Amino acid sequence: MAICFHESSKEFHLYNKDISYILTVLENGQIGHIYFGKKLRDRESFAHMMNFRPRPMAVCAFENNMAFSMEHIKQEYPVYGSGDMRYPAVEVLQENGSRISEFVYSGHRIYKGKPEFSGLPATYVEQEDEADTLELYLEDRVSGTEVTLYYTIFTELPAIARSVKFTQTGEQTIVLERAMSMSVDFPDKEFEMIELTGAWARERAVKMRKLEHGVQAVYSMRGCSSHNYNPFLALKRAETTESDGEVYGFSLVYSGNFLAQADVDTYNVTRVTMGIHPNTFSWELKRGESFQTPEAVMVYSDHGLNGMSQTYHTLYRSRLARGYWRDRERPILINNWEATYFNFNEEKIMKIVRTSKELGIELFVLDDGWFGKRDDDTSSLGDWYPDLKKLPEGIAGLAKKVEAEGMKFGLWFEPEMTNKESRLYREHPDWILATPGRKVSVGRNQYVLDFSRDEVVDAIFGQMKKVLTEAPISYIKWDMNRSMSEVYSASAGAQDQGKVMHQYILGVYRLYDMLTKEFPEILFESCASGGARFDPGLLYYAPQCWTSDDTDAVERCKIQYGTSFVYPVSSMGSHVSAVPNHQLLRNTSLEMRANVAYFGTFGYELDPNRLTDEEKQEVKEQIAFMKKYRRLIQYGTFYRLLSPFEGNEMAWMVVSEDRKQAVVGYYKILQSVNGPYKKVRLQGLDPDRKYHVRRIEEGQYEEDLYGDELLWYGLNVSDSSSGENREVYNGRNGDYQSRLYLLESIE
Ligand code: GLA
Repeated sequence: MAICFHESSKEFHLYNKDISYILTVLENGQIGHIYFGKKLRDRESFAHMMNFRPRPMAVCAFENNMAFSMEHIKQEYPVYGSGDMRYPAVEVLQENGSRISEFVYSGHRIYKGKPEFSGLPATYVEQEDEADTLELYLEDRVSGTEVTLYYTIFTELPAIARSVKFTQTGEQTIVLERAMSMSVDFPDKEFEMIELTGAWARERAVKMRKLEHGVQAVYSMRGCSSHNYNPFLALKRAETTESDGEVYGFSLVYSGNFLAQADVDTYNVTRVTMGIHPNTFSWELKRGESFQTPEAVMVYSDHGLNGMSQTYHTLYRSRLARGYWRDRERPILINNWEATYFNFNEEKIMKIVRTSKELGIELFVLDDGWFGKRDDDTSSLGDWYPDLKKLPEGIAGLAKKVEAEGMKFGLWFEPEMTNKESRLYREHPDWILATPGRKVSVGRNQYVLDFSRDEVVDAIFGQMKKVLTEAPISYIKWDMNRSMSEVYSASAGAQDQGKVMHQYILGVYRLYDMLTKEFPEILFESCASGGARFDPGLLYYAPQCWTSDDTDAVERCKIQYGTSFVYPVSSMGSHVSAVPNHQLLRNTSLEMRANVAYFGTFGYELDPNRLTDEEKQEVKEQIAFMKKYRRLIQYGTFYRLLSPFEGNEMAWMVVSEDRKQAVVGYYKILQSVNGPYKKVRLQGLDPDRKYHVRRIEEGQYEEDLYGDELLWYGLNVSDSSSGENREVYNGRNGDYQSRLYLLESIE
């Protein structure tokens, strides 16, 4: 059994072959934390790892024990106000106005497998022996509030999933004002915190900072997980690199407001908490009612940052994502957004479709502009019926024509929004989030539908279902293009307004759930002005996500590199677009654009009819390459090799499970002259195997090398820039260069 309860010490030890997580029932009945990290051999007690010494000024639990102060005890799910002065994991407002709680141990259950949490996305198991679960039961006797702390340890992965359930059993009505998904106290502060940060078109840049006393946090209060910070943070040791050293990852399976913080006290204890952002959150619980928090996934790696990321990739790709597309190679698609924007008709679309088919593309996606009277972004969101002026035979007619050409058809929706200029808004002006008597702020000319209300979600479902039933639709891009403001639900009472932002997200999940159940073979790609909702919550429903509206190859090096800290290659929507690039106005070669986009779901976002014959030939070859290697790229083990945040180069690679095949991408942003010789040490190869190494463009480079040479010496990537550069410019050998190497075992 991977979870032991030691009766005499009242300690719980959760372990697998890689990690240990140890907690204990404290003398006052609350839950103390002892250890999280590399696996320790089990023993009856680890109490020697705890310190109890009297400290001046400490507020203590017992009159006869000046050493027992919650401020100085590491804990699992702390409260504020009875000795601990730091930010708590939970705060409960009671009828008498008090916010003091004391959650004490009342029992536990250990079992094989993992529970499901209705209405919420979460990791799962397919066989019971894939995980073990501990449910710890706590209760606050004064308020009559019960808490269940869930811990699931995965058998084959160094990962623990946590969440918390509250049930009000007492007479009084309580209000949860803070209900975090997890909290853990580390005994030191010798960490660097990693966060993924940015803004529209520059999502998930990797930022590191040394932890210091005080609170360092990332968060969203926008109603979505956001471009600005991802619901993730990691703590690494100073010496930890991509391939070596310790790191702890924390990731929240949630798509709305979140808070992830490291609170370092002046005794150098680091408290990490993560969950729904407490700002504006309040959840009333009457007797008999429950509240379940989203899930947080904690990962430990002593194999560097790549080790942490690979654990998330495996878990999220195979036990968070679900359904028909989970394990399938993703179709190579073409999306018309950057080709036409709103300005298209059936004829224009069919021209794109026919040429795409010739190039080998498998799926055509019709983006924004097909519905209502949507000729720009000022109208029609919420009117999900085709604009017959643009598409005389509707979506059904167009989709059938696309299928007749031998391609699949996909469609864009933005289900959560409306414009004032729409039939939906005219009929239901009270369906938007708006605070009575106040102006409603606007974003991209649109307003947020109140998805906390079932009837709103059901009405949108009805409209979408009609379109999806009438036409052969294989793919949906589900967009979301503004943050929330003046949040208030016309259907909720005053007491329930603090629930609205979370209920909204539950409404989003419910619509996804209904659609994926009704149309199980449709491939969903989530999107939020690019990557404002690239989070684990949505991966549960949509196995891929549009990574960023920025399709420039150089920018994408950074965006996809940062995204890979948590999210698998199979989840990253990545397209080759036209040059000059529409966001940056930068020119890069077609080769560079594809070499970056291969490390994702791969597709095109341009008008193929504007390509020259030579470019069309190149695109055909790119598509043929991706078809041959996408299983390896999307489902292999991914390693980051050189960070674009640290220099002029970037490199990454994927290795097949049997280590017989690998693809390496190497990218150089600016060209140099008479520079150093360069090599990149590879990862994940079998040191004893001989590999045939070649660049994918024929005749460029070929060599047979042993795995050990590639691992310990490296792949030689020197070129004419290590010396006097006498090459003639050919469109791809100046700035913004890239190379793709294929490694195939020959023994
Ligand atoms: C968002 C998406 C884009 C595109 C447009 C359409 O910005 O991120 O990919 O779909 O909306 O309006």
